[in-house]
Amino acid sequence: MSSPQKKSQKFEVDAVPQHIAVIMDGNGRWAKSRMKPRHAGHRAGVKSVRQTVELAAQRGVSYLTLFAFSSENWRRPEDEVTRLMGLFLEALQREVDSLHRNDVRLKFIGARDQLHKDLVKKICAAEDVTKNNAGLNLQVAVAYGGRWDIVNAAKTLATRAVNGEISVADMHDDNFAAELALGDAPDPDLLIRTGGEQRISNFLLWNLAYAELWFTECLWPDFDAQEFDEALAFYASRQRRYGYTGDQVA
Ligand code: IPE
Ligand code: IPE
Ligand code: MG
Repeated sequence: MSSPQKKSQKFEVDAVPQHIAVIMDGNGRWAKSRMKPRHAGHRAGVKSVRQTVELAAQRGVSYLTLFAFSSENWRRPEDEVTRLMGLFLEALQREVDSLHRNDVRLKFIGARDQLHKDLVKKICAAEDVTKNNAGLNLQVAVAYGGRWDIVNAAKTLATRAVNGEISVADMHDDNFAAELALGDAPDPDLLIRTGGEQRISNFLLWNLAYAELWFTECLWPDFDAQEFDEALAFYASRQRRYGYTGDQVA
């Protein structure tokens, strides 16, 4: 019962969300509308990532989680997947110094064992170099799926139970959540999805339980400060009730 009690301590919506999660969608359509190949859209999307990271830090957001590649995106044509992985490697190489200078703490979530070892090496190095930074917590989801995440957490707790470290009766939502990829972060307050689709696409299934959802038609490479601030204004207008009545939380 710890979670509802924990939530009930915080009735008021802070003006700025502490944690924003973003489904960065629409790169392919952005490219297609310009008669360009899909990978040109992914490349154009990197600029929006950089800008969104800067905006989040400027506006006082503490955690930003970006969905870059889902567990289902492996189904895409091999050429697109290869180029995307190349782009991640390139962006990491190029951006880590500047992220570090800006006190950003970088973390990757997802199935690392599915990634190329060169990329994993760069990921580990970037996480290590930024691990003591105290600014924005930037979390990038690559080869990530919400179901994968939940199954992993279940396996961890089940293993502990089999080893006699905990009993089944001791499994609660808080110690379960602690085993998720974002176990050390607060739940996202706001989910932004660009590209016009209104779905979760297997993103943070557990963690988004009480997130406010904001969808925009804007394609990811076009996402800018005006869009970001619209999402923040939407968030500031919401009343978060966590199951209570409006009068109770007013
Ligand atoms: C999001 O853009 C990026 C990834 C999923 C890697 P898409 O590539 O899904 O773009 P659309 O939805 O086809 O326009
Ligand atoms: C979700 O976008 C994944 C990422 C943005 C990384 P998709 O484009 O893969 O989602 P669907 O397939 O349209 O649901
Ligand atoms: Mg898409």
